[in-house]
Amino acid sequence: MINETQIEETLNGLFSNLDFAEEPAGLYDPLRYMIGIGGKRVRPRLCLTVYSLFKDSFPEEILQPAAALEVFHSFTLIHDDIMDNADMRRSQPTVCRKWNDNTAILSGDVMCIDSYRRIAKAPAKVLPQVLELFNTTAAQVCEGQQYDMDYENIKEIPMDGYMKMIGLKTAVLLACSAKLGALIAGADERTCDYLYKFGYSLGLAFQITDDYLDTFGDSSVFGKKIGGDIVNNKKSWLLTRALEKSGEMEKSGVIQQGSGKNALLSAMEMKAANESEKNAKIARVKEIYTDLGIDEDAKYEIIKQHANAMDYAGMIGLPRVRYEILHRYAEKLLGRTR
Ligand code: IPE
Ligand code: IPE
Ligand code: MG
Ligand code: MG
Ligand code: MG
Repeated sequence: MINETQIEETLNGLFSNLDFAEEPAGLYDPLRYMIGIGGKRVRPRLCLTVYSLFKDSFPEEILQPAAALEVFHSFTLIHDDIMDNADMRRSQPTVCRKWNDNTAILSGDVMCIDSYRRIAKAPAKVLPQVLELFNTTAAQVCEGQQYDMDYENIKEIPMDGYMKMIGLKTAVLLACSAKLGALIAGADERTCDYLYKFGYSLGLAFQITDDYLDTFGDSSVFGKKIGGDIVNNKKSWLLTRALEKSGEMEKSGVIQQGSGKNALLSAMEMKAANESEKNAKIARVKEIYTDLGIDEDAKYEIIKQHANAMDYAGMIGLPRVRYEILHRYAEKLLGRTR
């Protein structure tokens, strides 16, 4: 059986040798840059981990689709950083800052196309299903990103609206990564479906962790600037739950009418045009979150989603040692600080 060290070595080999065209350099250099600065590679790792449950080696027909997941994901990040006006990614300047927005748009486009080249290397037998899954997922990510932007201009969204949004922008790609590994390995439909659900729940936990770290993380470890979600009035899990919880607490008389929710709503209206205004807004919102205990609530929610993922993994009926491979993968994600 392939072990975790072998998976890490395979990922290192795969991403240190990814070939992109040379010219024009202005188009392809950002692709090399984005892959070169390295992310956590959560999605290709999930795909290979699932594949290893069924197979004992990694031929090109799984390696290239696994690479496609990381290339596609990295493309979405390049565009996301324009949309979120972000300066830092993977502890380095974002493509839109190192170059400019136009470069980020076009290099992102060609990166998306590159991911399709790689996904098409899946075995002919399952290629129609693989493409259908990948296309559906890619469109869903765009839908999620649109909701994310729409929600910036809405004061408050219900929690189920938030979950739907992160399901689309983030969870479906982890779900797709897990299912892809199973499909290409030739697993049956039922197994593929449970692995999809496993990946989806993990993806929900993953995005809530991302939201938590965006406010409570350490920038030097997380690799992104802290507080971007607060500055942009993003409907993160923290903000969604804080608005909901402060309302509930006022209603039940735990806190004085208007003291929780209004405080948060006015903090959201604070201007954030320069660094000092941004820092003041971040500090104020963070203080309200802590007072409401939202940081602890987020941790609990992450554990809950995680447990759902492991329930789905349990339903597959894998031999114990193989179930534990999924368990270890999930554990690593749960404890992440970056
Ligand atoms: C960031 O993804 C965007 C989210 C979906 C939360 P990752 O946290 O996987 O970013 P990298 O690839 O490791 O940089
Ligand atoms: C990004 O969500 C999800 C996608 C890129 C599809 P975020 O905007 O929270 O991701 P980060 O925090 O910039 O990595
Ligand atoms: Mg975003
Ligand atoms: Mg972003
Ligand atoms: Mg984020």
